[in-house]
Amino acid sequence: MTTYLKKTFWSAALFAGFLGQASAQNGRGLVADKNLVNQANGIFKRADQQYRYLASRLPAGRFPKTYYAKNDSLGTSGSDWWCSGFYPGTLLYLYKQTHNTATLTEAERMLKLLEVEQYNKTTHDLGFMMYCSFGNALQIAPKPEYKQILINSAKSLSSRFNPKIGAIKSWDSKKPEYLVIIDNMMNLELLFWATRVTGDSSYYKIAVTHANTTMKNHFRSDYSSYHVLNYNPETGAVQQKRTAQGYADESAWARGQAWGLYGYTVMYRETKNKKYLDQANHIAQFILNHPNLPKDKIPYWDFNAPNIPNTLKDASAGAVMASGLLELCRYVDQSKAKTYFNAAQTMLKTLSAPPYLAAPKTNGGFILQHSVGHIPQKTEVDVPLTYADYYYIEGLMRYNKFSR
Ligand code: GLY
Repeated sequence: MTTYLKKTFWSAALFAGFLGQASAQNGRGLVADKNLVNQANGIFKRADQQYRYLASRLPAGRFPKTYYAKNDSLGTSGSDWWCSGFYPGTLLYLYKQTHNTATLTEAERMLKLLEVEQYNKTTHDLGFMMYCSFGNALQIAPKPEYKQILINSAKSLSSRFNPKIGAIKSWDSKKPEYLVIIDNMMNLELLFWATRVTGDSSYYKIAVTHANTTMKNHFRSDYSSYHVLNYNPETGAVQQKRTAQGYADESAWARGQAWGLYGYTVMYRETKNKKYLDQANHIAQFILNHPNLPKDKIPYWDFNAPNIPNTLKDASAGAVMASGLLELCRYVDQSKAKTYFNAAQTMLKTLSAPPYLAAPKTNGGFILQHSVGHIPQKTEVDVPLTYADYYYIEGLMRYNKFSR
């Protein structure tokens, strides 16, 4: 075996182990709280019913985006919105837990509508869109065609990689700029998968190069990250570091920190390169030691938002962090593992009660309340969001694997 193939083999073995039966004997003395495990089992059933209600309100051909309480209406999108994979992805997770065939039928209906995006080369979000949906489907309720859809998606995503910059382009721009956002770390998992199944190492190399470039340029000395990096498309030099969804260019937008944490944890899982584990640890420590992280561990929408504590929290950032920490705690020493596990547990406990967990048949059918999409643009402010639901359910599923 070449070194590369060896790496790929071990990466594949690890992946299968992680997603399949991450063993209860995690070797770090981490044991799930029985009450939260029981509560989670109830929440899976309740969320399954809640998503039946959401499905009943969804117009034909549309994907759920959010819910507006003031006029009791759903916000929806077409399949090309970056969040289109989360609803089918969550349905698949719920089907895995409840075995409700109506839930699988609804997931498969949505997958059919999403299929067309495999050829979309205008977005960097294909990891979110296709891997959270078809990737889950391949694990939970596979069909032969899913594999090729995912390979085509990885090809489309790779088409946005520029070797001069060493990164996948996030957002297209008419100006002489090449924009890369921290969120893009979440799209790399699809590329690792593609190398594993095709044997074509180019996807793997793109993912690693993108992660290295991001590690070099996106982070401050305290391991918080900028949201948007603007590269010169001719020279590859960084020409600006700024925000789009955060409070300020120099602030730490909460969800951006969550994407980085989760993204570098996946990088370590897939490569076993310790520098990514170190990066994930540094990000985790920035988040968990931050004086503005509340006791209930659901962050304000930006760690540097003005008026803390009188500002909005972001359930979606908390959900992504909880799920990311529940993977990261498997790779670190016992003391860090306990800290991460306990923090994730607090996050999940907070989200599993009011005001976050919505009462049945409220909240338009979404599971969680109180997320923040884009405050500077004044869109999706203090609303439910599909990705909050997705990572919350994923977090609870990961948590329950620690039960004895
Ligand atoms: N990826 C966009 C966001 O986190 O809002």
